[in-house]
Amino acid sequence: MPPSPSSTPSLTLIVAATASNGIGLNGGLPWRLPEEMKYFAKVTQGVKVEGDEPNSVIMGRKTWDGIPARFRPLKGRRNLVVSRVGGVDVSSSPLTTLHSSLPSAIASLPSSTTNSKSFLIGGSQLYTLALTASPRPLVDRILLTRISSPSFPDCDAFLHEFRGQGWKRSSQKDLSEFVGFEVEEGEREEKGVRYAFEMWVWEA
Ligand SMILES: NC(=O)c1ccc[n+]([C@@H]2O[C@H](COP(=O)([O-])OP(=O)(O)OC[C@H]3O[C@@H](n4cnc5c(N)ncnc54)[C@H](OP(=O)(O)O)[C@@H]3O)[C@@H](O)[C@H]2O)c1
Repeated sequence: MPPSPSSTPSLTLIVAATASNGIGLNGGLPWRLPEEMKYFAKVTQGVKVEGDEPNSVIMGRKTWDGIPARFRPLKGRRNLVVSRVGGVDVSSSPLTTLHSSLPSAIASLPSSTTNSKSFLIGGSQLYTLALTASPRPLVDRILLTRISSPSFPDCDAFLHEFRGQGWKRSSQKDLSEFVGFEVEEGEREEKGVRYAFEMWVWEA
């Protein structure tokens, strides 16, 4: 049974998606956007002072496999990998753990009273599990990098459509406050790809 809302640690879904919710291709990302990756790293690592708990990132086994070996586990963060089958070698890092379900990974997160944040970083299957959970999603916030162009029509992995289902778009000020640094409003362009940083919160 999933944890009750009152005991559920706050969990933020973070994703980059096209206008038609494309997020992946052939097990990897359809684009290479170093500045967007820097934003992801900065947000998920957090602004920390000595003695702070590290933030946590939960991911599906395929997303773990898609991270180049030299970048895994994602540094400075607890890495929680979800797999039914297991068999993922996490022995090299004490900050990396394997979980047989998304609720069990969530149950092992530090409580929201600590100064650490927790993120669900993909992929498509894990996002769908979290967004379609009943009676409410397993995430209470979405940090979305919305890619407006090009359309990347070849995507083969998608973000479950969440808009219009109890999710409300936040102001840029609230987004900046949440991540702990200034995030400029509006679109930017990197390598011919146009995108904007958004935040949505669950208000149903
Ligand atoms: N654009 C973005 O922001 C972004 C972010 C992350 C990922 N992605 C992309 O998304 C794609 C990967 O997504 P994906 O959906 O194929 O894979 P995924 O969600 O990363 O991982 C799927 C795996 O998670 C495990 N799993 C799924 N449901 C489970 C459940 N109910 N209980 C326990 N374990 C469960 C299974 O692992 P086992 O098979 O080991 O049992 C399953 O094969 C890639 O293309 C990646 O690049 C994009």
